[in-house]
Amino acid sequence: MKVLVLHGPNLNLLGERQPEIYGTMTLADLDGLVLEKAASLGFEVRTFQSNHEGALIDRIHEERRWMDALVINAGAYTHTSYAIRDAIAAVAVRAIEVHLSDIHAREPWRRESRIAEVCEAQIVGKGAGSYLEALDLLAG
Ligand code: DQA
Repeated sequence: MKVLVLHGPNLNLLGERQPEIYGTMTLADLDGLVLEKAASLGFEVRTFQSNHEGALIDRIHEERRWMDALVINAGAYTHTSYAIRDAIAAVAVRAIEVHLSDIHAREPWRRESRIAEVCEAQIVGKGAGSYLEALDLLAG
């Protein structure tokens, strides 16, 4: 299975960004764990991070014929972006929404996800484990 793993805005600062919420792991550490897990499942994975909504959408479009599935942590765009939601719906691949923190246990505005309806599952609050669980779900 070919999987595109997308990281949205501010996730490039993992490791230094609010470590009490997001932990001390860097984005490179996270991608390393994702790639290791993917290899153990026999998956091919491409990862991409951007702080720009359009760049995330462009990447979804560019990989639409390559990928079988999308694992996406859209960061704060999760709560606002109908455009990312439409991009996921447009490419019609399996999609899993992931978050490092538990968005349901934080500020009320974080509980709303614009992309949840076009994703088959939402996995939250497990740190890197949210991404790894998403890969397991795709495998199963
Ligand atoms: C996040 C949760 C979002 O609310 C926040 O804006 C992020 C990270 C998470 O992984 O917990 O940037 O998606």
